[in-house]
Amino acid sequence: MSDFNQEVDMSEMFKVPEQLRAKAHVKSMEEYRAMYKASIEDPETFWGDMAREFHWETPFTKVGPTFNFDRAKGPVHMSWFDGGKTNLAYNCLDRNIEKGLGDRMAIHYECNDMDDQHASFTYTQVLELVCKFANALKAEGVTKGDRVSIYLPMTVELPAAMLACARIGAVHSVVFGGFSADALAGRIVDAQSKVVITADGVMRATKPVQLKSITDKACELAELQGFKVERVVCVGRLKGTPYADQVKHDWVEGRDVWCNDFIGSQPATCGVEWVASEDPLFMLYTSGSTGRPKGVLHTTAGYMLGTFATMKYVFDYQMEDTFFCTADCGWITGHSYITYGPMLNGATQVLFEGVPTHPEVDRFWKICAKYKVTTFYTAPTAIRALMKSGEEPVTRNDLSSLRLLGSVGEPINPEAWKWYHRVVGGGRCAIADTYWQTETGSHLLAPLVGAVDCKPGSACFPFFGVEVAILDDKGVELEGECSGSLVLRRPPPSMMRSLYGDHQRFEEAYFSQFNGYYFTGDGCKRDKDGYYWLTGRMDDVINVSGHRIGTAEVESALVAFPNVAEAAVVGFPHDIKGEGIYCYVTLNEGEEYDDALKPKLKQQVREMIGAFATPDEIHWAPGLPKTRSGKIMRRVLRKIALPDYLTQDLGDTSTLADPSVVDVLKANHPRAA
Ligand code: WTA
Repeated sequence: MSDFNQEVDMSEMFKVPEQLRAKAHVKSMEEYRAMYKASIEDPETFWGDMAREFHWETPFTKVGPTFNFDRAKGPVHMSWFDGGKTNLAYNCLDRNIEKGLGDRMAIHYECNDMDDQHASFTYTQVLELVCKFANALKAEGVTKGDRVSIYLPMTVELPAAMLACARIGAVHSVVFGGFSADALAGRIVDAQSKVVITADGVMRATKPVQLKSITDKACELAELQGFKVERVVCVGRLKGTPYADQVKHDWVEGRDVWCNDFIGSQPATCGVEWVASEDPLFMLYTSGSTGRPKGVLHTTAGYMLGTFATMKYVFDYQMEDTFFCTADCGWITGHSYITYGPMLNGATQVLFEGVPTHPEVDRFWKICAKYKVTTFYTAPTAIRALMKSGEEPVTRNDLSSLRLLGSVGEPINPEAWKWYHRVVGGGRCAIADTYWQTETGSHLLAPLVGAVDCKPGSACFPFFGVEVAILDDKGVELEGECSGSLVLRRPPPSMMRSLYGDHQRFEEAYFSQFNGYYFTGDGCKRDKDGYYWLTGRMDDVINVSGHRIGTAEVESALVAFPNVAEAAVVGFPHDIKGEGIYCYVTLNEGEEYDDALKPKLKQQVREMIGAFATPDEIHWAPGLPKTRSGKIMRRVLRKIALPDYLTQDLGDTSTLADPSVVDVLKANHPRAA
């Protein structure tokens, strides 16, 4: 959908910074190509050698990938490291401590408020917290394969709870703290999580987020759907602080327990549940083009290798680095590049609870200066928002420690790329634009910063083990310079294995479009130098501030409103967010439209999904443009959502059942003065 790439200069090139190349793990294009070739042609050696850096309780007998992507040949399946038994939490913590990194800082926890109780945790301290959590979960009766829902703010308890699940073989399902009670309930019920870990609340800038009260409501909603949550563990984040009275919640005796009481008396050591390579590690819900969110299922060993390898090579991780990923653990970026990738590498990182604009617009840069961050990873939407405040908030902070800047979540427009490079990076840092998905678990396309000259706006080349192709509409692979649908020919190690409880939907959602390929849902160009340029989603998924939102989800929230008969949602280009949410709404027969409905409809979406999905625009549509067979012509709706809708060529509208609806939509336009 994004049209950023249309006016891009595809020949502009930024050379590898020489001081980076000197120390990098991969120092030249030749070296990258040789390693890439080995990863594809001889995965047994390439991935096998890398995997042997980890602890295996039982060694694997085969590296893989063993897979079938062709539905005609039977069910889609994939596996890596068959026969092996290992444990992610062990490899993140115990293994590093055994190597002598016990006293090394693992996490610098930076709170929302500048003067709050920031704290730092060594690897040994994180292990102790994880073990207490793991013992408490075991005492609660949680065993291997059970799902645990986690609805927490960005405090150290969040990665610790994830690692505790991994340690005992339980499957975590983290739900981003911005989701509503309705969304949380749906995810709890789908996963059948008897235990939910939450917090009383958290301050986001100056506003409280009522996590516990939302959890209470979600548990009620779950019960109405026939599922009972047995235990709610509540981290007392605001308890005993000056903000304590900002949060209000119930306390259900017998169900609720404060986290301190839950883990307090547990021992600080805990045995490890050795799990098979393909045992599930976690599920994470994401949006698709149809229906309810999909529970993307990741397994153990392949995910471990994928996140470890990309952290090491894409971020060119070195022992003296301090890493700062601004994502929330509620999204895949936080899973792979806060909880797992950095810890597997024994890295020191910053965990940030707050927002980039509190107390001032330079909070990210203050944090970078405070902890001497070397590697900073954020989303283009944040860069664009911060660009608006000018250069001074950046340059007043000492950012000389930075050497590498990452970008993720949506295509980065070259203007933002160059500002990031020049102003934040002082012209000396490498930029890694990383393209990947919840489904792929780790980076698919990204430059190796010591080897690849970058083109602003391009995610450059495939990572090791990633075999991409670009297909035309008929599913034929295109060669050389081309544009089409981006697919994978084979699974990289960290690829999702299924959708939780619905393998058929998994096959239909990803493998039905092109026989024998995984379809990413993204459009992509390859230029004459072989660089890849993402052009945006090709399905009905929109990308709002780096958050993936299915238009179908917003539509079903809108039609749940009493007088709404029908809704159609599309994305439109937005300066800061990348894409905004534009909703066409038809009311029930005989209902009068009134602008006072707008805030109510927006509120409806906030309640059913979360504030991050709040519509930007509501457009009253007495009728929607439909073909004679009743299909909504979204291409027409996308054009009418543009600011210059009056001069847009709507293309062929002759197949519309009632072409006059288009004129009515223009006459009703919310953007008309
Ligand atoms: C988009 C986030 C262009 C893409 C890690 C993808 C990107 C979806 C980039 C996945 C990028 C992510 N350049 N587009 N560097 N990174 N995307 O699952 O459309 O939240 O399919 O994973 O975001 O979003 P998800």
